[in-house]
Amino acid sequence: MCGIIGILGQDPAAPRLVEALKRLEYRGYDSAGVAVLESGALARRRAAGKIRNLEAELSASPLAGISGIGHTRWATHGAPTTANAHPHATDKVAIVHNGIIENFRKLREALVKAGRKFESETDSEVIAHLVSAGLEQGQTPEQAVTGAVKQLEGAFAIACLFAGHEDVLIGARKGSPLVVGLADDEAFLGSDAIAVSPFTTRVIYLEEGDVAVLGRGKTKIIDAGDAVVERPVTVFSGGAAAVEKGNHRHFMQKEIYEQPETTGRTIARYVNAFDERVEMPDLDGVDLTADSAVLIGCGTAHYAGRVAEYWLEQVGGVAVETDIASEFRYRKPAFGKSAFSVFVSQSGETADTLAALRYCKENGLKTLAVVNVPESTMWREADARLPTLAGPEIGVASTKAFTAQLSALAALSIAVGRAKNAISEQEERRLVRALMEAPRLIADALGAEPQIEKIAQEISTARDVLYLGRGVHYPIALEGALKLKEISYIHAEGYAAGELKHGPIALIDEETPVVVVAPHDGLFEKSLSNMQEVHARGGKLVLITDEAGAAAAGDIAKHVIITPTCDPFIAPLVYSVPIQLLAYLTAVHKGTDVDQPRNLAKSVTVE
Ligand code: G6P
Repeated sequence: MCGIIGILGQDPAAPRLVEALKRLEYRGYDSAGVAVLESGALARRRAAGKIRNLEAELSASPLAGISGIGHTRWATHGAPTTANAHPHATDKVAIVHNGIIENFRKLREALVKAGRKFESETDSEVIAHLVSAGLEQGQTPEQAVTGAVKQLEGAFAIACLFAGHEDVLIGARKGSPLVVGLADDEAFLGSDAIAVSPFTTRVIYLEEGDVAVLGRGKTKIIDAGDAVVERPVTVFSGGAAAVEKGNHRHFMQKEIYEQPETTGRTIARYVNAFDERVEMPDLDGVDLTADSAVLIGCGTAHYAGRVAEYWLEQVGGVAVETDIASEFRYRKPAFGKSAFSVFVSQSGETADTLAALRYCKENGLKTLAVVNVPESTMWREADARLPTLAGPEIGVASTKAFTAQLSALAALSIAVGRAKNAISEQEERRLVRALMEAPRLIADALGAEPQIEKIAQEISTARDVLYLGRGVHYPIALEGALKLKEISYIHAEGYAAGELKHGPIALIDEETPVVVVAPHDGLFEKSLSNMQEVHARGGKLVLITDEAGAAAAGDIAKHVIITPTCDPFIAPLVYSVPIQLLAYLTAVHKGTDVDQPRNLAKSVTVE
């Protein structure tokens, strides 16, 4: 999880950059670097490994200069070497970057063709060259950055320092967070407020698409529509950034909005973007060519497993059984000839999931933990682990942990598919490309909040809500219903749309909203028939679909939430966003305790 710091200061920048980078260590990293302006020229120091290696570099060859940028890098594209460490630079600009540039291959090819020389294997270096190209054409730093950012696809936050411009520092964000720190005659950029906290407590949380042009003591913010805007200044009260709400009303909202970054980080952990392949760590004897797999979890983690069941069967070509841990552990399950077991858990401590893991171990199965909290019990007891990199999740109702679990499980499905020869290398590439698009599409899906807000008002007066989905969206319907009941206390049920006629249709009347999760995929027509059945009985349909689905559904639905068009493989990731927002906004409207709903615990360590 990369960290960013930028300083336009009055005092020597290098020690301050290092101080800020130390504050960012909690995010995890495997190389670090800084760049400063020395008499107008860019000078860099970088080192693989810990910050102390960078400090050793700096004491061997110190840097003067009062403006600079710094970075801690969590390797994604390219190994954690010094050459791949940030900042990346030309003679005109140095940049640091957090996130994924999806279209970096295309951009890099074009830049190489134009005669530019690359020094690293990172996706980030294209940003330095794009900005540089603009500067060489006579653009101002602001023009060069805004022009470059428009060419970037993906989720990212960046900071840029310019040769010959002692009083300018520019940051931009799309998908990944970035804050501006304000002081009287200084200015700062940070990947979170804690990065700038040694220098100031006055921060601006940049919004999607913002470009911030910093001068000493002055800041100009340009929004996604190229308008100069004012953003509120917040006073940061210190403490760990991870447990600050920033400018969000609730942790749950913050965590929903973090998902472009948290899914990006998790996906980047498991894909090699250069080769477009999945790279799984050493799985300590877990044999991905096994004939079957069991997937166990509780609550939201169980639903992540239910989504993965479809993926592992369709992409992985492996027979899968998913179950709720509390059922699984007591039903004395039998296993196929060769099976591996997967345990999905945010906390890594849930008592039933842990007991199920131990049961599988006792029965000779290899165990794989998809877990968010490092060093938790499941993390330690499983044979192998696939960390989800969601960071601390504070809201009791799980959101970013869920999509991080989906990210890791999607990668696992591809790895199994390759191991079992169920998919070709070409298909693997296609799926990896689709997966890498997920963070950007999740960021786009967040844009539906104002539209969902209106629907939430209506839902907040309902007594019961039905959620329907087919295929891989059936578990998303289950998760949607769970989210709503957890935080708004409205009774909600998720059903497979095909089961509607076998019972739940009896619930439908004018008072019962029916939320249908249905992108325009191969099952859409089937879902449309189910919608007709609801419509014919006066039910209030809320359709979550894409543009094509909305067109095909005509005016059958009372409300339509438009979700970005995406590859069906990653649709569960993208469609998680509207169901989370719908639950969140409904609860806010009802005025319930969103982050700590009654009776619920974040980590259930008892049976
Ligand atoms: C509790 C939480 C849920 C979570 C479930 C499983 O019920 O309130 O949000 O999904 O436990 O927790 P785990 O830590 O194993 O993912």
